[in-house]
Amino acid sequence: MTYHALDNKTILDDVRSRPTLKAVFSDTSALEAEEVGDGNLNLVFIIRNTKNPVEAVVMKQALPYLRVAGDSWPLTRERVRYEAQALRLYNELTPGLAPLVYDYDEEMSLLAMEYLGNHEVMRHPMVARKRFPKFADHLSTFLATVLFKTSDLYLTGLAKKTMQAKFINPHLCKIQEDFVFTNPYMTSPENQWNPEIDPEVQAVRRNTPLKLAIAELKESYMTQAQALIHSDLHTGSIMVNEYDTRVIDPEFAFFGPMGYDIGAVLSNFVLNFASHYAHTSNRAERESYQAYLIETMRELWSQFAAKFEQLWIENNTGELAPNAYWDYPGGDQAFAEYRRKYLNQLLQDTAGLGACEGLRRMMGIVSVWDISSISDNRLRAVSERFNIRVSSRWIMERKSFNSIEDMLGIVQEEVAGLSLP
Ligand SMILES: Nc1ncnc2c1ncn2[C@@H]1O[C@H](COP(=O)(O)OP(=O)(O)OP(=O)(O)O)[C@@H](O)[C@H]1O
Ligand SMILES: [Mg+2]
Repeated sequence: MTYHALDNKTILDDVRSRPTLKAVFSDTSALEAEEVGDGNLNLVFIIRNTKNPVEAVVMKQALPYLRVAGDSWPLTRERVRYEAQALRLYNELTPGLAPLVYDYDEEMSLLAMEYLGNHEVMRHPMVARKRFPKFADHLSTFLATVLFKTSDLYLTGLAKKTMQAKFINPHLCKIQEDFVFTNPYMTSPENQWNPEIDPEVQAVRRNTPLKLAIAELKESYMTQAQALIHSDLHTGSIMVNEYDTRVIDPEFAFFGPMGYDIGAVLSNFVLNFASHYAHTSNRAERESYQAYLIETMRELWSQFAAKFEQLWIENNTGELAPNAYWDYPGGDQAFAEYRRKYLNQLLQDTAGLGACEGLRRMMGIVSVWDISSISDNRLRAVSERFNIRVSSRWIMERKSFNSIEDMLGIVQEEVAGLSLP
């Protein structure tokens, strides 16, 4: 079918016409569509069988422009192809950690996927101080597996580059290159910030050592094709409940530096941590939740590193440094030392790249709900200044980090130095 944007009515005919969706619905005579796209980019519909509402699918359609900006901001529809490809790969590599893909229609730029009716987008319950006991285990499995198994540690050079060729995603890369790594730190018309923190924002924009470091990190984002990264893995791209964790919305996926994904999650935890200075006035409640966030960050990194290394030891099938390369007296120790150095470099990349995601949320095109939902600008500024300090220090001090404790130690030092209004 020639491309046309769907609406609440036409989407129902589309759903009824797809053989791939026959298994989802016992009856298609009473379908109902709801457009739920709270996002910035695409149309997202939930289609339910009103006779049995547990039967449902999510249909996501790319528009030829950026949804929030309207047709003044053209954007290629092929983003949904990257999303479909990445979700399919996630389902292969880490079953149960992403929504199932039922169908993908290239012509219509339309993706049909599993409806996650028992899950919430993680950002919201984190503002309400909800805890997710399985999250660190699930997400560390997702990150370790997807990043390892799409890297040169696991794939042959040919296999990796063949896969990489399917994930050249220049238009969505440019969005992150501009809005994570460049524009927030200079004068640019789309930037928004709280007037209360204007001095801090201006200070970032003329902080030469920080600007040099961010330029270095941007180059890594643009050139380091280390593994297939999600590339927008903030807490709005993760749906959770107490038992289950799913990664959604990988439309930015491309071969980039692994640390950007791990770092995006950690920096969004810092953003949430900081937001509780405004959201949670009861000190005991706040400190208890913040302690939970710190422990989850610690677990996420530690479990990630352990799982990644275990996968590597058991599946050193890539061509970067194969087993035969280490086959000499002392080779086992040398291989262990290589793994240690690799993971330490990854920790440093995680800190730096992740902190750019955290920092840009204070002064760029789009904030995060944890922070933007704080209506009192003076209170909001407390959270924002905290985050600017932690992010700047993660960027500037990253090359001295040897352990997740170095990253968490900075968060704790900034807590100690905080004077609350
Ligand atoms: N599989 C799903 N099951 C249930 N709800 C979903 C599912 N996928 C998306 N949603 C809901 O739709 C919203 C928008 O989805 P998504 O983030 O994929 O859209 P987007 O247009 O790419 O937005 P963004 O601006 O975040 O990039 C999500 O925040 C979530 O509330
Ligand atoms: Mg999206």
